[in-house]
Amino acid sequence: MTQSADLRGALPAPLAFIGGGNMAQALIGGLLASGADPTQLRVSDPSPACRAVLADLGPLALFEDNAAAVVDAQVVVLAVKPQVLGPLLEALAPTLHAAHTPPLLLSIAAGINCASLLHWGQGAPVVRAMPNTPALLRSGSTALFATAAVSAAQREQAEAVMAMAGSTYWLETEAALAAVTAASGSGPAYFFRLMECMIDAAVKQGLAPSLARALVTETALGAARMATQKGADPAALRVAVTSPGGTTAAALAAFEAGAFPALVETAMAAAAQRAESLAQELGAEACRKQGDQA
Ligand SMILES: NC(=O)c1ccc[n+]([C@@H]2O[C@H](COP(=O)([O-])OP(=O)(O)OC[C@H]3O[C@@H](n4cnc5c(N)ncnc54)[C@H](OP(=O)(O)O)[C@@H]3O)[C@@H](O)[C@H]2O)c1
Repeated sequence: MTQSADLRGALPAPLAFIGGGNMAQALIGGLLASGADPTQLRVSDPSPACRAVLADLGPLALFEDNAAAVVDAQVVVLAVKPQVLGPLLEALAPTLHAAHTPPLLLSIAAGINCASLLHWGQGAPVVRAMPNTPALLRSGSTALFATAAVSAAQREQAEAVMAMAGSTYWLETEAALAAVTAASGSGPAYFFRLMECMIDAAVKQGLAPSLARALVTETALGAARMATQKGADPAALRVAVTSPGGTTAAALAAFEAGAFPALVETAMAAAAQRAESLAQELGAEACRKQGDQA
């Protein structure tokens, strides 16, 4: 695993986005804030409403037609829902290969593996990235995996794009993406669920809902800030705030009695297994079989 350096100099131009929804808008917002030339950013999306939102971000080149957006692009970010990616990419492949050098395909679609992307993209180099929802605030964590044909320069380009959404980390195996999905991809929802439970419990103990919400969410933010400081260790932080026989110890003992660590492990295993089964359901092989049956 490697973590990103400042890669703004490696930003690809032109850079195309297929799909201009939430994630594309977050990345484009980061690119513009970093001084990227908006005229080098191309986005295709079938939705006029989505294109209107994008037009408000800056003088981007906007398209209804995906093929028009990718001409001459160095990197094509695939920012559509996983279900539409296969047919979209198959339709786009001739345009990608008409270029002197096929662009790098940077897929952020959850659950679509490299084998399927290489198949649909007819061998164009592929990087898979798994961002998470805090990317919308540019506080995300993204793990990336590059296929063999990706050059060092293309790795830097992919990382430079995803760094617009927060921290970036390279993986040595694609298989690790399932664990990444379970940890950071789905992870924000676990913390949201814990916050919900804590807010509900605080209200039951008599706090006003607005106060319970403020206290719990600010505590989550403060704890996350402490845990992400250089050299910080969550276990050491927990021990430091847990006096023997005190209130925190009483709460943590209840967590242990309810097998909280085992429950978290089971939940994350379920997420990783679902990531793997989605790859089977949505991948090129499954689409081919569906086509054979039609
Ligand atoms: N949001 C996250 O936190 C997050 C985290 C990790 C990974 N991801 C992945 O990121 C990808 C994008 O997610 P998102 O949240 O940005 O989705 P989104 O907001 O729904 O954006 C996708 C956009 O693609 C458009 N689109 C649909 N079909 C298209 C086509 N054939 N050609 C071009 N554009 C098309 C959609 O238009 P319509 O709405 O009109 O269909 C929509 O505007 C997904 O694959 C998701 O798995 C997202």
